[in-house]
Amino acid sequence: MAKQRILRFPEGFLWGTASSSYQCEGGNTNSQWYRWEQQGRILTGESCAIADNWWENAERDFNLAEQIENNALRLSLEWSRIEPAEGRWDSAALDRYRAMLTDLRRRHLKPIVTLHHFTDPLWFADRGGFADEANIRFFVRYVAHAVQALQDLCDFWVTINEPNVYAAQGYVIGSYPPGEKDIMRALHVLRNLVQAHVQAFYAIRRLQPEGQIGYCLHYRLFDPANRLSPLDNSVAGLQNTFFNRAAWYATESGKFPFPLNMLLAPVARAAGARDYHGVNYYTREMVRFDPTIPAELFGRRFVRPGTIHNDPGLDNNFGEIYPRGIYRILKTVYRRTRGNKPLYITENGFSDAADNRRPRAILEHLAMIHRAIREGIPVRGYLHWSLVDNFEWNEGWGVRFGLIEVDPQTQRRIPRPSASIYGEICRANAISEEVVERYAPEAADAIFGKDDVTQRQVPV
Ligand code: FCB
Repeated sequence: MAKQRILRFPEGFLWGTASSSYQCEGGNTNSQWYRWEQQGRILTGESCAIADNWWENAERDFNLAEQIENNALRLSLEWSRIEPAEGRWDSAALDRYRAMLTDLRRRHLKPIVTLHHFTDPLWFADRGGFADEANIRFFVRYVAHAVQALQDLCDFWVTINEPNVYAAQGYVIGSYPPGEKDIMRALHVLRNLVQAHVQAFYAIRRLQPEGQIGYCLHYRLFDPANRLSPLDNSVAGLQNTFFNRAAWYATESGKFPFPLNMLLAPVARAAGARDYHGVNYYTREMVRFDPTIPAELFGRRFVRPGTIHNDPGLDNNFGEIYPRGIYRILKTVYRRTRGNKPLYITENGFSDAADNRRPRAILEHLAMIHRAIREGIPVRGYLHWSLVDNFEWNEGWGVRFGLIEVDPQTQRRIPRPSASIYGEICRANAISEEVVERYAPEAADAIFGKDDVTQRQVPV
């Protein structure tokens, strides 16, 4: 009997997409990102305007997520709507979120709710935002308010999205608000975000003891340009420590790793303050020692030449498509944390307007996740970034991450082939050889392994 190779995912695996309020809702004129737009800081010169119009009609896209047989959807709450001025709460905004979460549940899409995804209310930014430790209490108060209002509809919370990206882009690279270039300040912002997460974690825990509470980090691989060069190795290692390790090390041990522990004080009650590890993974960069760039920790980062890569956009931020990277990250997080918590891929995606690399990329990344699961790593879900094209921060509409294409002018939706592929995988809770043959036959060996002795097979 002919055998079909197949990679089955564990029962109850979460399949969904991830998104954020600013990027999808539209009409968010009360956050620091709106001011950034007004200052002409979006590289394409665009403004977010109505984005995907989710504030009016997110349900239209939730319907598409239901059609591709997802069982989860991650979105974020817009703090600047819920608390438009310090201490003033807008119950109509919370009602709108209640309606969205109710609709998701009706469609059997488990809501995964992020409380902070890059945007701050203007009043908070004007007080110094997360650069000032004294402001953390405002965030925690907002979190408690929002969770209290929504806890009957959601039990899976992401406190803060990518504290490392918020700190690096806003305070080192300067391409996100407030546009500063000061590594010491960035480190203090990072520390304050860790502390904000920890305090939010305990605030939510009190309200909802059974909730799943964590945060997600953007993991980026930094590989030495020349593996034999001690200098390339040490600058790549330094970038890894600052960007990838600092925050999770702090939520494992309460302290920051060397050498950051010489600059940053420990965070009280941080050790173990999360129920899962949220992994956002996109790309890797190569790093070469360069004594002329102390601001970049003496490491020149570049995309490995000759590789398949994402659409670069104007900021060239997304680089190589490197499926093995997701496996390496999962293994590292699992090993370093001694497997203490389940893992979720809270974001993974590709900027590919033509959708001619995404199909294969989805299949190969999922195959790598499957490999990690086979090796005993408890990965419990995968959220693809993103369901629909959305407003990509300083890149505007210039890069397209959606399974479904959106024309921002007409708001027309056109599903890309990737939407069908992802739908077939979600429905089957598996990657079958037949799907691979149909969408990316050239990747069959990479996905199932040439030597399929190690693969699980089912007779057909
Ligand atoms: C991540 C962000 C998300 C989106 C993707 C492409 O770093 O969390 O909002 O911009 O990148």
